[in-house]
Formats: sequence, structure tokens, C-alpha cells
Amino acid sequence: MSGEASCDDLARLVPPDELDELLSAISRPLACKLAIFDVRDARLAGATEGEAVRRPLVHEGERLGTLAASGARAGDALDLAAETLGLLIHHARARDLAATTHEEAMRVTFGELTEHNQRLQRAVARLEELDRLKSNFLATMSHELRTPLTSVIGYAEMMCEGLAGPISQDQREYLTTILGKADQLLGLITAVLDVASLESGQLAVERAALSLSEVVASEVASFVPQAGRRGIAIQLDARGDTVVFGDRRKIRQIISNLLSNAVKFTPDRGRVGVVVRPGPLAPGEGDGEEAGPPAIQLVVSDSGIGISRDQVAKIFEPFFQVDSSSTRAFGGTGLGLTLAKAYVEAHGGHIWVDTSPGQGSTFTATFPTALDRAGSEVSSS
Ligand SMILES: Nc1ncnc2c1ncn2[C@@H]1O[C@H](COP(=O)(O)OP(=O)(O)OP(=O)(O)O)[C@@H](O)[C@H]1O
Ligand SMILES: [Mg+2]
Repeated sequence: MSGEASCDDLARLVPPDELDELLSAISRPLACKLAIFDVRDARLAGATEGEAVRRPLVHEGERLGTLAASGARAGDALDLAAETLGLLIHHARARDLAATTHEEAMRVTFGELTEHNQRLQRAVARLEELDRLKSNFLATMSHELRTPLTSVIGYAEMMCEGLAGPISQDQREYLTTILGKADQLLGLITAVLDVASLESGQLAVERAALSLSEVVASEVASFVPQAGRRGIAIQLDARGDTVVFGDRRKIRQIISNLLSNAVKFTPDRGRVGVVVRPGPLAPGEGDGEEAGPPAIQLVVSDSGIGISRDQVAKIFEPFFQVDSSSTRAFGGTGLGLTLAKAYVEAHGGHIWVDTSPGQGSTFTATFPTALDRAGSEVSSS
């Protein structure tokens, strides 16, 4: 391609000060004068005097301007200038090309990112909508499931009490099974709902002073018969003042979830121990001067199957159960510890476990003491 219309602007490709430097570097040793003009014959660099020889400056068949030289060695100066300029222009074009390619690549990437972003935004909006629908669905379902279940339990209890007429021993047994299963179902519905409210950040905790050891004692008592049937002894040890400031229903649930696991994952004739005592709030805190705020600890230990190190990190996740056969062997939904952890943390406490396979497990849940809570409230107001 040649001709003015398609010419690169020489001044754009090589800055004027570079052109000046080049000309003086060539002309000085050759004792001549050199100048460069663009295609419109405007002077770009250098200055000629007297009779100057002119030569078109052509690069890859394209005219980019004119070179002019005067002096005895004007021809040499033109050769040298044309050659050096050729190199400079070649370089500048390569740089231009790289920049354009880069710019194009950036433009494509930016376009792709924008599109990706829009897709993500649409997906997030869709997920939020689904999440809202899920919450509505759960709330509706809980009502729809609970109402008939309450009737089933109510009528079964009435029949059990003989209010619908005398019943045989067999009938009483069947009704007791119905009541047990209905209770289990109610517990499950409540757990699923609690997890849903956790996920939407709507977990409400009521606060009242209560004796942790009293609540623990009544929960332990309710587990004794079922543990006893498998030859598992539950030992309770409550020491000192164990008053905490918390939500009775949720605290009962924490104890019951930890106890049910301890009994469930302990082989027949094993041992389960429950200790309630004052102690540090967080794991690893000593009782010394550096100890954190005082707390009440609930420690549930068992001589059961234990948990391997890599599974321990996951057991507090919703629906996680250590191995897939555990659903068949032990039942449950994998929500117990998720709820226990959420409830403990909602009270400002911590929960952790010390365990290893075959060596049993010790779960510790802590609750800030009522005293500490009252104290901090007074000092912060
Ligand atoms: N004391 C324990 N000993 C051994 N493994 C345990 C113990 N407690 C929990 N696990 C493991 O952690 C898993 C999760 O416990 P989690 O209480 O959350 O669920 P689950 O007991 O299986 O079901 P759910 O409590 O909902 O009825 C259990 O399935 C079990 O694999
Ligand atoms: Mg459980």
C-alpha cells in the first residue's frame, strides 16, 4: 500500500525529539545537514541549508515522508538516516500492534466479564427469590404439618387415658408407639424449622435466669430409661452455682441433642457422663489469671465409637453424618449438633469436642454466667 491517504503519521510513530537526536547523531560525524519532512512536506526535524538532496522515506512500500541532506556526504547521510529510521518505524509499528492486540484482548475480556457478571446477578436474584419461596414454603408447611400432628397426638393421648372407652394392653402399646413416633416427627419438624430460621438469621433467644444443673438433671432423667435398656449408665455430676441467663427451651434442646448422641453412638453397656460446673468460656483457656470471663460448662462424655480427626470439622454442619451407613445404623437427620452449636453461640457460649476413634467423645458447651451477663450490662450502660 502506498500514497498519502494511508500513510502513518511519522511524527506519531517516532517522537520529534527522538528524530532530532537521530539526525544530529548522523549529521555531526558526516559534517552534513539533514532534515525530515512528512508527506505533506511539513518539516518534522533538522534543518537544511543551501542545495539539499531529497529522497522519499519509504517503509514497506509505503511513503512516510521525505529526507533532505546537504553537504559533501549527503548521500551517505541519507542512506544512514533512511536505514535507521526504517528500524525505528518498524519497532514503533510492532509496539503499536502489540498495544492494539492487548487492547482488543482487554475489550473481549471486559465484555465477557460484564456478561458473566450480569449472569451472576440474574442467578443471585433468582436464588434470593427461591430462598424467599423456601422460607414461605417452610413456614406454611410447618403449620400444615403441625396442626394435624397435634390432633393425632391429642386423640392418641385421649384414647391412651381411656377417655374413648376401655383399651386392651395391646392397644395401649400401639398407642404408645403412635405417640412416640408422632413426638419424633414433631421434633423433626421443629428442627427443620429451626435450621430454616438459622439460615435466615431469625433465631430469637429468650433470656431468663435458670439453673443449668436443674435443667440438665431433668433431661438426664428422661434419657435414663432408654439408656438403661441398653445397659448404658448415665452419671450426673453437678457442682457449684450453675445459674445462666438463657432460653430454657433451647438449652433443653442442646442438652438433649448431646445426650441423645452420647447414648446413640455408645455400644451396649457403655458409659455416659454428664458434668455441670463453673469453668472457662472458651476452649484452651486456663483457670488462672489470664482466664476469660467465667462461664458454666456442660460436659457430655461417652465411651462410644468416637470421631476421626478429619470428620470432627464437619459434624457441626447441617445434615452431616460421619458415614453414609450411619443413617441406617443410627437414624437421625444430622441436624442435632448444628442446632446445638447455633443455640450455644446465640447464648454467647462455645461448643467443642475432644474425641478420637474408639476412644469415646467429650462434648463441652459453655454458657456465660448470669452474674457475668448482669455485670457486663451494668458496666456497659
Ligand atoms: N457422641 C458422638 N460419638 C460419635 N459420633 C458422634 C457423636 N455425636 C455426633 N457424632 C457424629 O456426628 C454426626 C452429626 O451429629 P448430629 O447430632 O448433628 O446428627 P445425628 O445425631 O446423626 O442426627 P440428629 O441429631 O439430627 O437426630 C452424627 O451422625 C455422628 O456421625
Ligand atoms: Mg444427634
